[in-house]
Amino acid sequence: MIKKLSPAVINQIAAGEVVERSSSVVKELVENSLDAGATRVRVEVRSGGAELILVGDDGDGFLPEDLPLAFASHATSKLADVHDLEHIGSLGFRGEALASIGAVAKARIQSRRHGAREGWEIRCEGGVETPSQPCGCPEGTRIEVRDLFFNVPARRRFLKSAHAERARIQELIAELSLARLDVDFTFVADEKEILRLPHGDTLAQRFQRCFGDELGKGLVPVARTFAGLSVEGLVGEPDLARRDGKLELMFVNGRLARESSALYAVRQAFREYLMGGRFPVYVLQLTLPADQVDVNIHPRKAEVRLVEARKVAGCLHETVRAVLQGRLGMNLSAGGVVIAAEMPRARSGFPALPSTLFGESALGFAPAAVVPTSHTVREVSTATPTTHGATAPAARPNPFVRATGRYLQVMDLYLLLEGPDGLLVVDQHALHERVMYERLRRQHAARAVQIQRLLVPVVVEVSPSEMAWLTTSQELLAAEGLLVEPFGPASIAVNGVPTVLAKLDCKKLVRSLLVGDEVAGAEPLRHVVAERFHSMACRSAVMSGDRLSDAEIQSLLVEAATLEHPHNCPHGRPTVLTFSTAELERYFRRRC
Ligand SMILES: Nc1ncnc2c1ncn2[C@@H]1O[C@H](COP(=O)(O)OP(=O)(O)OP(=O)(O)O)[C@@H](O)[C@H]1O
Ligand SMILES: [Mg+2]
Repeated sequence: MIKKLSPAVINQIAAGEVVERSSSVVKELVENSLDAGATRVRVEVRSGGAELILVGDDGDGFLPEDLPLAFASHATSKLADVHDLEHIGSLGFRGEALASIGAVAKARIQSRRHGAREGWEIRCEGGVETPSQPCGCPEGTRIEVRDLFFNVPARRRFLKSAHAERARIQELIAELSLARLDVDFTFVADEKEILRLPHGDTLAQRFQRCFGDELGKGLVPVARTFAGLSVEGLVGEPDLARRDGKLELMFVNGRLARESSALYAVRQAFREYLMGGRFPVYVLQLTLPADQVDVNIHPRKAEVRLVEARKVAGCLHETVRAVLQGRLGMNLSAGGVVIAAEMPRARSGFPALPSTLFGESALGFAPAAVVPTSHTVREVSTATPTTHGATAPAARPNPFVRATGRYLQVMDLYLLLEGPDGLLVVDQHALHERVMYERLRRQHAARAVQIQRLLVPVVVEVSPSEMAWLTTSQELLAAEGLLVEPFGPASIAVNGVPTVLAKLDCKKLVRSLLVGDEVAGAEPLRHVVAERFHSMACRSAVMSGDRLSDAEIQSLLVEAATLEHPHNCPHGRPTVLTFSTAELERYFRRRC
């Protein structure tokens, strides 16, 4: 029998989409505070938010007559009709958050408008509201959420430990705060102040406060303006790379939201420097006309869609690549590159651009390419560089070019030699990895991968799906230097391998390349395969602990002098440390 669900059940089901865990409540409440024009936001939690979440702000406050609608679903002050959806300038727009929170917790709002004599409060517990009434409270709004999921035991059981929830909330506040340097954020957990982020920090300062001083060191400021798009932020040098993508922070018009082609474009720009499994660190704020962004595609507003996704991806790729190549860095220090520092700010705090800027003709892109590598991107304005608290380093020269021929191998791990600026300590394994990686990449780029043919083919057994994949990818593999052909129903014969990888066990090589079905995702197969080959190149590098002969060391150093990116191994670890003469003199107190 079909029955209509009661509003309470409907709300609880809808709430399941919006409120997943404690941090989702914090996200919604903080975003509301920012939308209300707050300059100070204070978040307090107890037991990871399961017991209490309290968000206070000094924003506009609710109109007393609006309070009865606060917990109503589909009730918002931020959207009037369907056309408004096309140019949303606030973080909220659905009128769903408070209704969802009220449906699955015990919530109370206290709010006083600026200059009003008294405040008003209203409660909602498990979807049941009590009428609003006057109360004493400071100007602004204070929202208290107790006993999250008290009426949805299944959900409550799925909350992670208080410790894990608290950590996620801390990360979330840190992330949200990066888009609003003009706002003061405080986070208190179990009566202890965890984060204190004063307004007026530079992006680099705030990033460091949030994620640690260590991470702040290698951040290069970036600021570029294209027609209808500005890209501003910090890009981490490859040695900051992490095992997860948590610090790939991209904001679109002030909203921390994923957009797959933009994310992919930045990863592509890092590809030369980082290998699979390593994720870059960056904070990039993209600003584009509101009608170019569809924010209404994800229940938790965690993703956006861009009308001109390919063009934006192209700009991003170009921008990040330029930073990594050190070009932008040099331009910045010479006082060249730009962002319109004072763009008009919308009420919610992020810059608003007139939509006419996004003229088709103004952009010099190849429209069909996902991430065009040869296009020219036109910069449309040059003013004074923004300061992010960090000065952009100039491109670093290759230290091996002018190193002397004398060296010492110590601990079967490091090489000591004299470089142009002082003493170089080289990690032989990291450097050799870089050498092998670039050697294979160069051959690959020139479509001239050297192949070592095997006198006797090596036969490798494969499963039916592996066989199917190998047969369809045969040409792709041949271009990478691996010659294979079917050999009977359940095995393949390997007739040749890339010379760079000739030392490796042939069977293991094939096994590690059998990427199979799992790669059907976003990245083109060609890239995945190339990446696997490159990582094999690394694996064939000399290990730390291998004693190298003089001839091996010499040829390693000779090749190091030709490297395009000599400073890091492909996983982002440094290959060489330089102790300058001045530094050594200080250590030995020759100089104060
Ligand atoms: N901290 C606050 N200060 C002032 N007004 C607020 C605050 N929080 C919420 N409001 C008001 O309550 C309304 C409902 O908030 P709610 O978060 O449920 O919806 P929304 O922000 O409009 O949209 P979304 O569901 O996408 O967040 C808002 O439109 C706003 O008018
Ligand atoms: Mg909201």
